[in-house]
Amino acid sequence: MTDHATHPDPAAGPTRRDFLRAGAVAGVGAALGRFGFDPLPAAARRQGPLTAPFAVPPMEVVRIGFVGVGGQGTGHWENLLAIPGVELVAVCDIDESHAARATAMAVKAGRKAPVQYTRGPRDFERMCAEVDCDLVFNATPWEFHVPICVSAMKNGKHAATEVPAAYTMDGCWELVETAERTRKHCVMMENCNYDRTELMWLNIVRQGALGEVLHAEGAYNHDLRSVKFSLDGEGLWRRAHATKRNGNFYPTHGLGPIANCLDINRGDRMDYVVSMSGPSRGLQAWQREHLKEDDVRRAETYVQGDVNVSLVKTANGRTIVVTHGTNLPRPYSRVNLVQGTKGILMGYPDRVYLEGRSEKPHRWDPAEKWRAEYDHPLWKSAKVQPMDIGHGGMDFLEDYRLVACLRAGTPTDMNVYDAAAMSSLCALTERSTARRSAPQEIPDYTRGKWKTTPAWPVVEA
Ligand SMILES: NC(=O)c1ccc[n+]([C@@H]2O[C@H](COP(=O)([O-])OP(=O)(O)OC[C@H]3O[C@@H](n4cnc5c(N)ncnc54)[C@H](O)[C@@H]3O)[C@@H](O)[C@H]2O)c1
Repeated sequence: MTDHATHPDPAAGPTRRDFLRAGAVAGVGAALGRFGFDPLPAAARRQGPLTAPFAVPPMEVVRIGFVGVGGQGTGHWENLLAIPGVELVAVCDIDESHAARATAMAVKAGRKAPVQYTRGPRDFERMCAEVDCDLVFNATPWEFHVPICVSAMKNGKHAATEVPAAYTMDGCWELVETAERTRKHCVMMENCNYDRTELMWLNIVRQGALGEVLHAEGAYNHDLRSVKFSLDGEGLWRRAHATKRNGNFYPTHGLGPIANCLDINRGDRMDYVVSMSGPSRGLQAWQREHLKEDDVRRAETYVQGDVNVSLVKTANGRTIVVTHGTNLPRPYSRVNLVQGTKGILMGYPDRVYLEGRSEKPHRWDPAEKWRAEYDHPLWKSAKVQPMDIGHGGMDFLEDYRLVACLRAGTPTDMNVYDAAAMSSLCALTERSTARRSAPQEIPDYTRGKWKTTPAWPVVEA
């Protein structure tokens, strides 16, 4: 199912498209070269950026075609069945039993059976072409995110994708270009933006209690060794990336929420990244300790460093650390640190320090102490019940918000520029890691609109 050979290796250097773009902006490239940047795509685009924030006319019902109902997709499917104003009209999966399971869930919920598309890995194209729906939502392996979103938009549908939206620079630009050309939404479904603590941090920032935000740290630290070696689900595709790539493969869970606190693409933007990975040991050790002598997976070799640390500088001079570690024994953490002139917030465990307001100087308060004052309205709303489906409720909330925005005709919480900027770190951290941590320019996908796009407000349900 996974075909890495057809995908450009970011570490191998700029792609043909990068060079074409770099040629178009040779002056900029030369200037950046002086500072050691790679000549990556910059400002000259065929299409103008979408109005920011971009919205489409309201729709009473959101008709959805869904691609990929495995582990995460089935969770979304279940959420969408529980959200008012949604019709699940089609389901596509290469595994017929998965499509059948989703269909049975819909029928059990009293809905019409969706049309099934199960004729192989490109059958989503048939679905996008012939199904009358408003949105194509995909929760497939990473390789398919861009082709599915692009096919959806070209066929007049909005697109929503699981994370990361893309893992090549070409993929990031293709999403942006297609969204602009077709005037469609393309939303990366970053569920961690909606977790309770993350939204509370955002609320604290929005109320001004943290002062000026200067620094943030996020991570995806999750021991995925058994998942990567499982014989179904992610074991079928995720481990393969570690045999070919080395960088931060999964930056958006840690980055998404802190990017909101820093108003990335809405007053500030990510300017450049430097990245380094340590040794690759965890998957090799797991192989030796858990696989039988004759298991073919013992022949695999891995190049992914077990811990990747990346450092982003923003246009306004602020700093972000994004860490990735999925191959070593460790408890889960997204770090979730936001620091300002008046205090600091940190996750795992959730804690708060607000100067002059916390109980003792230099000492953390448990976040619970501040919950009553700063809990986000989305988490207090009775409207978003039952929201215990999927990662403690945040998945329900993100699906609820996407549907609510489409139905109301308002801008989506996150847009294609956020999808591209955050996902670009996949490829750019690989490039930096491969080049002794050389700084990599993060394209301004908004082409200047980040300066005037308003901050994501504290929205109500
Ligand atoms: N946001 C989160 O918390 C979270 C959690 C888990 C996974 N994910 C993301 O969700 C996506 C899916 O991960 P998963 O854990 O559900 O994986 P999975 O392997 O369990 O599910 C993938 C599904 O897609 C199907 N599929 C594969 N190729 C397809 C194709 N070409 N066309 C149609 N269907 C296809 C598979 O049969 C399977 O049903 C990934 O992008 C992953 O990064 C996100």
